[in-house]
Amino acid sequence: MKHITCIDDLRALHQRRVPKAFFDYCDRGSYAEETLRANREDMQAIKFRQRILVDVSKRDTSTTILGEPSTMPLVLAPVGLLGMQHGDGEIHACRAAQAAGIPFTQSTMSICSIEDIAASVEKPFWFQLYVMKDRGFIKALIERAIAAKCSALVLTVDLQVIGQRHQDIKNGMTVPPEWSLSKLIDFATKPAWVSGVLQGKRRTFGNLAGHLKVSDDITSLSTWINSQFDTSLNWSDIDWIRSIWPGKLILKGILDVEDAELAAKTGAQAIVVSNHGGRQLDGAPSSIEVLPEIVDAVGDRMEIMFDGGIRSGQDVMRALALGAKSCMIGRAYAYGLGAGGQAGVAKAIDIIQKELLTTMGLCGVNRIEEIDDHIIAV
Ligand code: FNR
Repeated sequence: MKHITCIDDLRALHQRRVPKAFFDYCDRGSYAEETLRANREDMQAIKFRQRILVDVSKRDTSTTILGEPSTMPLVLAPVGLLGMQHGDGEIHACRAAQAAGIPFTQSTMSICSIEDIAASVEKPFWFQLYVMKDRGFIKALIERAIAAKCSALVLTVDLQVIGQRHQDIKNGMTVPPEWSLSKLIDFATKPAWVSGVLQGKRRTFGNLAGHLKVSDDITSLSTWINSQFDTSLNWSDIDWIRSIWPGKLILKGILDVEDAELAAKTGAQAIVVSNHGGRQLDGAPSSIEVLPEIVDAVGDRMEIMFDGGIRSGQDVMRALALGAKSCMIGRAYAYGLGAGGQAGVAKAIDIIQKELLTTMGLCGVNRIEEIDDHIIAV
């Protein structure tokens, strides 16, 4: 890890260490990947105002996220299949987040179950929910998150229908999965990855397996999951979720001002301005492009979180400058996990924090609360 200096280095190591099908699943986007690219390009187009001779000796990245202290305005986003990037990946990522003093969000589509993580970490974590057709199952899943003392529910609202990722189809990451000979050969060239995954607690979706009384076999499980995404989901379902989940609620996947206004009426504490990392509606604007108008519309009523294209502390600074209260990262830490397990995730977080501190210093800012659009060059 000594010569790893940026998130791109972690990405390159992830690519070397993990089979292509799983690396691509993490790295790629939907359709022509226009939105995936826009997330990065629009981010990089934002330039800072360099300020000099300001006393920046007391820089500090600490803040609060939904009223809880956090060492920096950063949250690990829900990422499915982490346990296939590294054995027990969800547990390793959660431990790294907790050691760094920031929240971790577990995906519904995790390999480890809610209970596996809860038994392995010290503090509460956040749980992300996909609402599926079987509402009895969803109610039970929320009750499991309550029993595990999850401290926030992240309800993802931008995956009613699934955006196609061409590369996943080419790689056989399909329903059911295609374990072709070339893929098995690729696995065989990564023995450390194979043994890590084999030693992990589970190898299929831990939140869904067993509990559903479908076989734990990956083919039938993935077929069941695919049939379960609920295209009828609508705003009234949020009321139903609120009647079961008593804690903090975050709606993730808002990209439009009208939807942000509707979200504010649900009583949710926060929204995540997000296009699912360019994995869903291709041709949608980048998250950073729509962030300012959403902050203007509802920023006084809800906490505005942001994700999409963050690969550095500079990018966190950009999103905060445009009004986000905190940022989620997806790929940036998943690359770290694939590159080096818990140490790799810790490295990703550390890189981003150090870059944020440096950027604050060069923009003449000491505290997170001081970051606003005065640091942006126009
Ligand atoms: C995701 N994302 C995601 N979101 C969610 O709500 N539930 C999920 O299970 C997943 N799964 C998932 C898998 C992978 C491999 C990726 C890369 C992303 C979206 C994620 O939470 C987040 O919105 C994006 O990753 C943010 O963009 P960046 O940081 O990856 O550019």
